[in-house]
Amino acid sequence: MRNFVKVTLALSLVTQVVFAQKNKSKGFHFAEEQTELMLKSISEAKATSRPNAVTPRTLDKNGNLVLVPSRDWCSGFFPGELWFLYQYTKDKKWMDEARKYTAFIEPEQFTTTTHDLGFEIYCSVGNGYKLTNDPSYKQVIINAAKSLSTRFNPTVGCIKSWDNRKEWKFPVIIDNMMNLELLFAATRLSGDSSFYKIAVTHANTTLKNHFRANNSSYHVIDYDPETGKVLHKQTHQGYADESAWARGQAWGLYGYTMCYRETRNPVYLQQAEKIAAFILNNPTTPTDKVPYWDYNAPDIPNAPRDASAAAITASALYELAKYSENGKSYKKSADQIMNSLSKHYQAEPGGSKGFILLHSTGHKPANSEIDVPISYADYYYLEALLRQ
Ligand code: GLY
Repeated sequence: MRNFVKVTLALSLVTQVVFAQKNKSKGFHFAEEQTELMLKSISEAKATSRPNAVTPRTLDKNGNLVLVPSRDWCSGFFPGELWFLYQYTKDKKWMDEARKYTAFIEPEQFTTTTHDLGFEIYCSVGNGYKLTNDPSYKQVIINAAKSLSTRFNPTVGCIKSWDNRKEWKFPVIIDNMMNLELLFAATRLSGDSSFYKIAVTHANTTLKNHFRANNSSYHVIDYDPETGKVLHKQTHQGYADESAWARGQAWGLYGYTMCYRETRNPVYLQQAEKIAAFILNNPTTPTDKVPYWDYNAPDIPNAPRDASAAAITASALYELAKYSENGKSYKKSADQIMNSLSKHYQAEPGGSKGFILLHSTGHKPANSEIDVPISYADYYYLEALLRQ
């Protein structure tokens, strides 16, 4: 009898692995075809875009491809997708494209006017370095970490998100947790622990001030840069100051999971588990597990979805599953999200200029990028596929 149970368990495990491999292969096959189309769409769009526009971000209201300069926070996602295609297929064609598009983003390594350097440089150059060990990429990562570190204020204990916003003195957004990965990598690559210390201090300050009792997070915390005192707790891209903006919750989940990977501090693991509980047990989460753009959107169930929040969440849950006692349940939830995205949110083959996923929401209060394909949804979807 005991043997029978063992054989049944082993068979079920093998079936799960075969199923995951099949999904991954199907997902990447589709991604390769769409990305071939995207490369053509980029060439066409360049003719009518600004000369410094280099990588795709979304489609505009007329269905035209929107290309952005390296300075845009979304610039690094497409190069990152090309690296993921190379990682999965090992086809040199994708490495050549990845190198070409990564080179467009490298000048940002010296920019000190944005907190988005992690998105820009680590999603492009960081993935390139992981796959090639190219020493020039290593130096770009270290330079970018130095630039990002100039935005750290030790009195506040955080990296400043945005400059020149008259309503806020020292705004810090939950998204900023994502940029810490660049700092952890820079300490590993340079031996300079100052980057690591800044990352940990930022994560600790955010943990203290960004979260509510129900473990959802505010979008923006505004600090007094002279005293470190919290001045405002507000939103920018969410429905209301006290609402839970869907992508913000996903950034927090991914950020604290990554911080646990980098530090093994159990406090970060617990925080990631708490955020996962908020997301997965939320009564407004639809049965397909792709959230509405804000968990408190007033027009649920007619509110737009945010497939990007779902893709980021799935990728984070696959990683969290490796560290947590709830691993099985996180993996199951991530599989459910990925199943929904693959079955019901993919672009039509050969359509949408080569984007992979539809139905993301960029900035609803600004009436911008609502129910559109968007590069970061595709990036985290491919990363999640690789993590399956
Ligand atoms: N600010 C990054 C985002 O829209 O999620």
